[in-house]
Amino acid sequence: MATNLGPGDIRPDWLLAHFGMAIKVLGVEGQRAIGDGLDTQDFLLVNSPTLPFGTVSEYFKLQKALEQQPTKTDDELASIGRKARLAARVLKALGRPLPAPVEILSPENAHPLGETFHSMAALRFGDYVGKFSVTPLSDNVRALTGHEVDHAGRPSSPVRDLLEEFFAHNSADFALRVQLCADIGRMPIEDASVLWREDLSPHQTVATLHLAPQNAASDARRIYADDVMSYAPWHALEAHRPLGAIMRSRRPAYPASSDFRHSVNNVEAAEPRSLSDLPA
Ligand code: HEM
Repeated sequence: MATNLGPGDIRPDWLLAHFGMAIKVLGVEGQRAIGDGLDTQDFLLVNSPTLPFGTVSEYFKLQKALEQQPTKTDDELASIGRKARLAARVLKALGRPLPAPVEILSPENAHPLGETFHSMAALRFGDYVGKFSVTPLSDNVRALTGHEVDHAGRPSSPVRDLLEEFFAHNSADFALRVQLCADIGRMPIEDASVLWREDLSPHQTVATLHLAPQNAASDARRIYADDVMSYAPWHALEAHRPLGAIMRSRRPAYPASSDFRHSVNNVEAAEPRSLSDLPA
């Protein structure tokens, strides 16, 4: 799991941001979406059902704003977040829609294990089109929905510390679900800012993810996950081909970012082929 929707700069995780969840399925067989010669299937998810800047021209505006972030201090970003949350609460109370910048800047304090994560944009689901999501299933993580993270006395990484402590002693189950497109007019593929309503098509569970107790953030694991590995929506089977303009824009963006990271960090990139490639 990684924090933030877009900011590339490294920040303490008490600074409220959207959470991401990245899943890599190893050893998948079948025709690839692109000729990458890999045998992995990645699913990249964020704890929001929609991408407020859901077209390429809108996303470009978000990108420009994100590029300004490194010039701001943690306290300045925290203050922007507080104002956006206030604006979001007022607009919600008035029953008004949230402008995209307010929506993206106003994540609430939430426990990541109680959150539901979404692909936000569409993928193929075999002969169908769907959006993927992951939601808490076991009682211990369902109980965390709506819980806040206590930031007191943990200067830099309260969220990571919490996850590390949780998985030192507990397992957790999550449901992997697919929401099939049942009405292309009201469930568009090309604009990821439009919510696919549940009454048009419910999220259906297709798998259970079981996370065993583990040392979730050992130094070796962190380095492997942050520096060696790469997640990308186009690490995919043709049966789960990413769809729509936002997904197409991500096709060159992720390998470019990964190449840049590996070159400035002077680390050789590697794609795991089996679980034994993951350090303990
Ligand atoms: C449906 C919308 C999107 C979702 C759900 C999403 C999700 C994610 C997640 C979960 C990560 C972290 C992966 C990790 O831990 O390595 C990530 C990284 C990243 N995202 Fe997105 N993202 C979305 C849209 C975009 C768009 C439109 C772009 C740019 C065109 C973009 C560019 C990137 C880049 C460059 C990285 C870092 C990749 C790396 O260095 O390996 N994302 N995204």
